[in-house]
Amino acid sequence: MEVIITPDPASAASLAAGQLAAQLQAKPSCVLGLATGNTMVGIYAELARRHRQEQLDFSRATTFNLDEYVGLAPGHPCSYASFMRTHLFDQVNLDPRRINLPDGMTADVPGFCAHYEQAIEAAGGIDLQLLGIGRDGHIGFNEPSSSLGSRTRIKTLTPLTRTSNRRHFPPGDDVPMHVLTMGVATIMEARRCVLVALGAAKAAAVKAAVEGPVSAMCPASALQWHPRCTFILDEAAAGELALADYYRFAHEHRPAWQR
Ligand code: F6R
Repeated sequence: MEVIITPDPASAASLAAGQLAAQLQAKPSCVLGLATGNTMVGIYAELARRHRQEQLDFSRATTFNLDEYVGLAPGHPCSYASFMRTHLFDQVNLDPRRINLPDGMTADVPGFCAHYEQAIEAAGGIDLQLLGIGRDGHIGFNEPSSSLGSRTRIKTLTPLTRTSNRRHFPPGDDVPMHVLTMGVATIMEARRCVLVALGAAKAAAVKAAVEGPVSAMCPASALQWHPRCTFILDEAAAGELALADYYRFAHEHRPAWQR
């Protein structure tokens, strides 16, 4: 596991965007796993800038989003489909036929979830999965106690996650209780994972994920088993890491071939 501590959120976003851009350049027909949430806003803005100013090309890429609220249609302003259109899809030249999100309106949840897993497999698997982390250690919406062997399915959000996400909904609107989310095992099958965490509110979850025991109580800790996983943190999110100085030293002194 590689842990990179950056000075501030803008540097973290730029580094994460750089990793996605490098993936797109190395394999233009790559499959990207995408996340939503505040952490992603700066990353997608930087990708959009690179598309506009540096001709970063998304035209042959395929994308799969991690999750969607159950009961919200893609046109709903608080849906993750809407978030993705605003922050990325309408800003770059992705082919709409190769954009995939869980369908929060499906009448057949198990059937749709099985289909989503099959679609990922048929696309050749995810080359790079971008992740955020919840204050309770969730990745995707695999809340604490999620099976580390889980696949795409319906999950119930914890009160903490619903409170955290409240800010994206207009006053009076309830945050949905349920989501469709890729499972922990689905995420673990990505060839590369890049998790980004910003701010002191994430420090305890980052500590548990990176340095705690591997446990379903912190689903992000499963990434300790991932052969190619990078955590990109700002100083505040790295604030509780016992080995922070070691991670800084290791990053500064990484061999030339790793740069
Ligand atoms: C959403 C997702 C979640 C978020 C997490 C952090 O697609 O995968 O795991 O990444 O809830 O959200 P923010 O960035 O809003 O703190």
